[in-house]
Amino acid sequence: MIKCYDITGTISVTCALYANGKKNKTKANAIRKTIKINEYESIMEKIFACKTDDVKPGTMKKVTMDGKEIVVTNLNGEFFACSDTCTHSGASLSEGTVDDHKIICGWHGAQFDCRTGNLEKFPVTINNLQSYTVTKESDNIMIEV
Ligand code: FES
Repeated sequence: MIKCYDITGTISVTCALYANGKKNKTKANAIRKTIKINEYESIMEKIFACKTDDVKPGTMKKVTMDGKEIVVTNLNGEFFACSDTCTHSGASLSEGTVDDHKIICGWHGAQFDCRTGNLEKFPVTINNLQSYTVTKESDNIMIEV
């Protein structure tokens, strides 16, 4: 039996193979890895996020796509997308501020690089943000989720 499902961007795969009535763990693990990679690649879908005019240079906008809250940032005409949820205590980053390439959380000031999602500054180590691939098609901002 092979089962694949997507939980908020993370692929979880349950796979059990039976040979001669016995569970074959090694083979199941190999197949699980393959499925994980293939499913991850196949589920990435480019979806319309908003119009380029919706995000003026030096600003950001929250969009919800495929159940995910994402902050789109316009850095001098280039668009970037990261998870909107601060990895410290869950603030909506789009309610914070943007300073050049930095998104600054409005609650306790964590700073993330909008281009990569990486944490830039905070007194303690917290996780980076999930970042997403953005493409511009005409005046549409498309994000791979
Ligand atoms: S919730 Fe963002 S820094 Fe605390």
